[in-house]
Amino acid sequence: MTHGLFDVDGKVALVTGGTSGIGQMIARGLVEAGARVYVSSRKADACAAAEAETGAVGIPADLSSEDECVRLASEIGAREDRLHLLVNNAGATWGAPLEEFPAHAWDKVLDLNLKAPFFLTRAFLPLLEAAASVDDPGRVINIGSIDGLRVPEAPNYSYSASKAAVHQLTRVLARDLGPRRITVNAIAPGPFPSRMMRATLEEAGEEIAESAPLGRLGQPSDVVGATLFLAAAAGSYVTGAIIPVDGGIWTTR
Ligand SMILES: NC(=O)c1ccc[n+]([C@@H]2O[C@H](COP(=O)([O-])OP(=O)(O)OC[C@H]3O[C@@H](n4cnc5c(N)ncnc54)[C@H](OP(=O)(O)O)[C@@H]3O)[C@@H](O)[C@H]2O)c1
Repeated sequence: MTHGLFDVDGKVALVTGGTSGIGQMIARGLVEAGARVYVSSRKADACAAAEAETGAVGIPADLSSEDECVRLASEIGAREDRLHLLVNNAGATWGAPLEEFPAHAWDKVLDLNLKAPFFLTRAFLPLLEAAASVDDPGRVINIGSIDGLRVPEAPNYSYSASKAAVHQLTRVLARDLGPRRITVNAIAPGPFPSRMMRATLEEAGEEIAESAPLGRLGQPSDVVGATLFLAAAAGSYVTGAIIPVDGGIWTTR
């Protein structure tokens, strides 16, 4: 019964923002596990570098607009007749004190972190449904954040709000897409080394690691393990879940 529970061999996956940080960790892990993986981000050179480094296929797109989300779905639709797994990972943040927090930092962050997962999920529905069955549903994984579960220390107003909203969108879409044999779950990471986290971790990395009951930062196997669970047979009866992968920070701090 346990044979193949975490198997994603032969599945087709898209990881947005798969050219850097957590997205790249997930893309690499899925390729290693035998999936055919697409990654997407704005920069063509980052997509080309990710192809060389991870073995995924890179397709550049600026996912902060619905048109680009739709174009990406049609480009992948021209190459594949099914998509088993959509990982909505691309994200951006912004930090500024309350009095100085600019209006465009709301637009930039909400367009990418919240609206893109909605537009992408909708645009990929035909391909996800084509891959889906009762026993092996299509899968959507949204990358949220523990900053959408707790009140964050940093003044990242639009970011933490976008992540709380993406968790709620996950639950709403889980209800709507369950009958269409598609699961929708979120992973809420704690601190992982990445471009987004570089300055924060340079300044306070040790302190942040020590704040976790497990005493360290996240590493690639942590987020890949959660992805494999949600993407493979092991996770076929899980939908609408928000899974913190954070060394225990959210529960205890
Ligand atoms: N690292 C952490 O500790 C942490 C913790 C909690 C949650 N998260 C979440 O994890 C996800 C990945 O974050 P990360 O830390 O790995 O960040 P990262 O290293 O900065 O990677 C972000 C990725 O998103 C892409 N991207 C940015 N803007 C885009 C756009 N408009 N269209 C398409 N792609 C775009 C970037 O590529 P281009 O620049 O080429 O577009 C890059 O591939 C985010 O949703 C983030 O909120 C991270």
